[in-house]
Amino acid sequence: MSITSELITIAVLAGTTRVQRESIKAAHYIAEFGRQLPGVEIIFVDPAELNFPGDGNDPEGKDPRYTAIVEKADAFFIVTPEYNHSFPGSLKRMLDSELALYNHKPVAFAGASNGNWGGVRAVESLLTAVRETGLVALSWDIYFPHVQDMFDETGAIKPEFAERYNRNLGKLYDELLVFARIFRAIR
Ligand SMILES: Cc1cc2nc3c(=O)[nH]c(=O)nc-3n(C[C@H](O)[C@H](O)[C@H](O)COP(=O)(O)O)c2cc1C
Repeated sequence: MSITSELITIAVLAGTTRVQRESIKAAHYIAEFGRQLPGVEIIFVDPAELNFPGDGNDPEGKDPRYTAIVEKADAFFIVTPEYNHSFPGSLKRMLDSELALYNHKPVAFAGASNGNWGGVRAVESLLTAVRETGLVALSWDIYFPHVQDMFDETGAIKPEFAERYNRNLGKLYDELLVFARIFRAIR
């Protein structure tokens, strides 16, 4: 089997547990888009459905369901909202719960906010932490400014955004898959 025909598993991580979170719509859009790609398996990870007692990555601070996902994943797509010019604590807590299992795996980022900047400061601040985990960040991202206006009541991206976002997201997935296949071949 060549490295381009192997099934690639991508974990799409939602970045917040907030009940009224808008960024979850962008996360579902990204996950659904990935599910349409040939040779790709998407695992949607919602920190609101997981449990990480305390802090750190000791055995008692892990959620075994998340451990299994991180172990299986060939790549990650983190979708973060911006909270006080950074990323949410629940995302940090989830990321912190593992370490070695991230090594030599690529990660793409999406930012979301209710203002003009689409969460770019959250992604920039996330880069510093993610670099230390051993995940390998792509050089470009996708952003959802005014995220509350971008999706309809069914969760579908509105027509005025669909063409541009589908095009850009397709390119970002292509890039993530290139890195995922290369790193998988050497792991
Ligand atoms: C605690 C908190 C802090 C926030 N700080 C920022 C911020 O620094 N910059 C920004 O653009 N939006 C900020 N927002 C608004 C979010 O952009 C907005 O809630 C958006 O819908 C994405 O977050 P959500 O998924 O929680 O809804 C903040 C929201 C919360 C709950």
